[in-house]
Order: sequence, then C-alpha cells, then structure tokens
Amino acid sequence: MSALEAVVGLTYLVAAATFVMGLHLMRSPATARTGNLLSAAGMASAILATVALVGCGEHFYVTGTGWAVLIAGTAVGSVAGAWGARRVKMTAMPQLVSLFNAVGGGAAALIAFPELLHQFEFMERLGADYSALPVSVLLFVGLDLLIGSITFTGSLIAAGKLQGWVSGAPISFPGSRLLMIASGLLGLGSVVWLIVSPGVAPMLVLTAASLAFGVLMVLPIGGADMPVVVSLLNAFTGLAVAMSGFVVGSDILIVAGGLVGASGTILTKLMADAMNRSVLSIMVGGFGTGDAPAGAAAASGGEVRRTDPDDVALRLAYASKVIIVPGYGLAAAQAQREAGELGKALTDRGVTVYYAIHPVAGRMPGHMNVLLAEADVPYPQLLEMEDVNPEFATCDVALVVGANDVTNPAARRQGNAISGMPILDVDKAKSIVVIKRSMGHGYAGLENELYTDSKTGMLFADAKKGLGQILAALKEYAA
Ligand code: TAP
Repeated sequence: MSALEAVVGLTYLVAAATFVMGLHLMRSPATARTGNLLSAAGMASAILATVALVGCGEHFYVTGTGWAVLIAGTAVGSVAGAWGARRVKMTAMPQLVSLFNAVGGGAAALIAFPELLHQFEFMERLGADYSALPVSVLLFVGLDLLIGSITFTGSLIAAGKLQGWVSGAPISFPGSRLLMIASGLLGLGSVVWLIVSPGVAPMLVLTAASLAFGVLMVLPIGGADMPVVVSLLNAFTGLAVAMSGFVVGSDILIVAGGLVGASGTILTKLMADAMNRSVLSIMVGGFGTGDAPAGAAAASGGEVRRTDPDDVALRLAYASKVIIVPGYGLAAAQAQREAGELGKALTDRGVTVYYAIHPVAGRMPGHMNVLLAEADVPYPQLLEMEDVNPEFATCDVALVVGANDVTNPAARRQGNAISGMPILDVDKAKSIVVIKRSMGHGYAGLENELYTDSKTGMLFADAKKGLGQILAALKEYAA
C-alpha cells in the first residue's frame, strides 16, 4: 500500500465516522444543523481523497479518467447541488429530495454499466468466457442496475407528482398493475439471467424492465401515501449506491450507501406506521386510495361559521389551554415566526400552549419541527401526535393553521384517500379555529368536515396575515 492509499483509507475511515455522528446529531432539531455540516464535511473530504487517488493514477479500477474530467464533474455537481438547494423553497424540498434520489440512483446504475463492459473486455483479453466472471461481481452489478434504475424513474415520477407536473392522484390504466408485476418479475429474472449467462442482452433487458417498473410502481400511488414512497425511494438510493460500492470496490460508497439505505428504511417504516399503512400495500398500490368523493360527501352541505381576528384573540385570551396545529399552509405562508410569537404571547398570559406535530404534516418528514425550531418555539411545547391527542379533550381552543388532511375526520372512515391514517384529534377540542384562505382541499383532495363542525370558526386568511392580525388584537386586549 502506498502512502497516498494509506492517507486516503484513513480519510475514508474518518468520513465514515462523521456520517454516523452526523446521523446521530440529526435526531434532534437542536443539533441537526451541526450534524448536517459534519456529515457534509466528511463527504467533501471523502470526495477530495477519491479525486487525489484517482488523479494520481493509483486506483486501478478507474485508470484513464483524467484530472480534467474529475474536476469538471465535481465542479458541475457541486455548483448544481448548491444552486438547487439554495434556490429551492422550503415547501418544494420533497421534490428536490426526490430529484436527488433520482440522480443518486441513476448514477449508481450508470456505474454498473461500464464496469461490467470493462469486465467483459478483460475476459476477452484473457480469452476466457464471460461466465467465468465471479457470481458476486455479476450479482452486485445486477442488483445495482435493478435498484438504481427503479430509483431513477420512480423518483422522477415522484418529483413530478409533488411538483404538480404529473397528477398527484393515483394514476392507473387497464392492466397497469399486471404490467408492473410483469416488469418487476422480468427485472428480477434478468438478474438471474445475467448471472447464469452474462452478456449485454440481459443487462439491457434488466435496465429496461427496471426503468419501467419504477414508473409503474409510483404512478398508482398518490394522496397521503407519497411521503412514504419518497422515503422508500431514498432507501433504494442508498442501497443502489452501496451496490455500486461493491461493483467498483469502494469502501466509502458501501458505508455511505449502507447508512442511507438503513436510515431510509427505518424512516420508511416509521412513516408507514404513522400512516397506519404497510409498506408492501403502498408499493402494490391503491391502498386507501378509494372513492374520494364518497369520503367527502359527509362534509358537504354543512354550515360554515366565519370568524374574525378580534373574536379569535378574545377566545384565546380567555383560554387556559390552547393547542396550535400547524400544517402545510403555515409553511407555504412562512408564518412560523407569527405562530411562535402568538404562542409566546399566550404563554406570557399564563395560557398552557402546545404545538401539535403530525408526522406527515407539511411536505417532508420533520417539516413542522424544522419551521417551529426556526421560530424558537421551546421544544417542550412541541408534542408529537400520540402525546398531544389526549390533550385535545381538555383544550379550550384548537387553532389550526394551514393544516387540512392531518385533521380530517374522514380518515376514520373507509373508502377515501386518507382512510386509516391516524389524525390529530382536533374535533375533540372544546372550540376550534381554522386559519386558511378558502374551503380549498388539502393534499389528498378531500373536503374536511371539521370546517362545518358546529364548534369551528373559519378565519379565511393567509396564515401569516391572519396570525399577525390575531396577535395585534391580542396585544390590544393586554393593553
Ligand atoms: P394539506 O392537507 O396539504 O393542507 C394544507 C392547507 O393549507 C390547504 O388546505 C390550504 O387551504 C392551506 N394553505 C395553503 N396555503 C396557505 C396559506 N398561505 N395560508 C393559509 N393556509 C394555506 O396539509 P397538511 O394538513 O399539513 O397535510 C399534509 C399532506 O401532505 C398529507 O396529505 C400528507 O400525506 C401529504 N404529504 C406529506 C409529506 C410529508 S413527508 N410531510 C410529503 C408529501 C405529501 P387553502 O388553499 O384554502 O388556503
């Protein structure tokens, strides 16, 4: 081992340690930023170490790749990543994550292709048959192509659905499920074909079948199941990257991919549990995406009671317990500071204040925690769904700010897009105020009968403006 290889190996070890420490720090909003920076620094040093190794021509797997290509690739990737991340709105983060998943999965699959062709060339030079290639090499290449290609197209469709370029509703056509199963089986069968009879044909069939499976798997998924799918595809990206690590013999890719795969799998399981879904039923498609209008029917026809900021401020001022329920609308309006200030003003008046956090409120895992942490809301006031639900029965005012699906009692009935999803028990509060701009639907496209509940007052306003007006009225009461 040369001195450079020893230094690079050590750098990889340190980088792997920073990934694990970073993940640990990301468990709490208070330390998540540090964790992210630490892991990013570890990844940057691993990339630099790889560039040095490859550029100095000591890594026999990638000989022939010049400095110029390496530096240009790193520069283009870094600039595009930094530009995309800085430019993206907080509410569009899931689409960006999906695009990153697509890029990661696609890159992993692309690594497998030339690597196997290179191995074929090598065998030809030796005058040996392709089938003399070790099964382990063929297996990892096959799995890399399979998972990477599924992730690539699946994530592109997911990003399109989240961005609104593809309909967010489940999309299916006659025979689509059968086609999905057939493409999945063809993909798996082609991995076996590649191992038994290595060649370009099984590689091409495997790639085409997997690309088709990715599209057909994600198209029929919609509504409240999208967060679980995005998280699942994130886990797939990690697995594909780990496989590509085996293919090119890179320890750091195996470690980084393994960590992403494992943490993504855990997150997928947690989110599926929170949604009362099984991951398999979501992947097979259609679970809980039944007859949406039937679920909506119960809400239509009820009376809507309007309220105004003065009335809301009065109710809050005389409450002893208030639960603020943030949702996607709070993020869209960037109203986290106002929500935090209102909570503080009420706490100062001696009111007990909690913020109810639903696991899929907003558009990405932890969305509400991140926003409210930004507004310096004290962590003890943030209660997860299981902890806050028993509090609603004794709460004087539940103040819903731009949340819809996560409060919709239709989830307790069968036959609609959110059936079975646990919700925040807002309807159990003594009185309810909802701030949103209209009677418009939430992400799952359902009417919400909470809005016609006799205890509910609707404040039709942008969340930031509405909260600001309530705050101003509350200050007047205090004066
Ligand atoms: P939604 O059900 O999406 O409802 C958000 C509500 O906010 C809308 O009804 C909208 O009504 C209102 N709104 C939008 N802009 C607003 C503004 N500027 N001011 C005030 N209100 C505004 O949100 P939710 O209750 O947080 O539920 C999240 C949904 O997204 C779930 O179905 C979940 O499955 C899905 N999803 C979640 C994730 C993750 S990981 N969290 C990822 C993808 C999808 P108006 O238009 O009438 O104002």
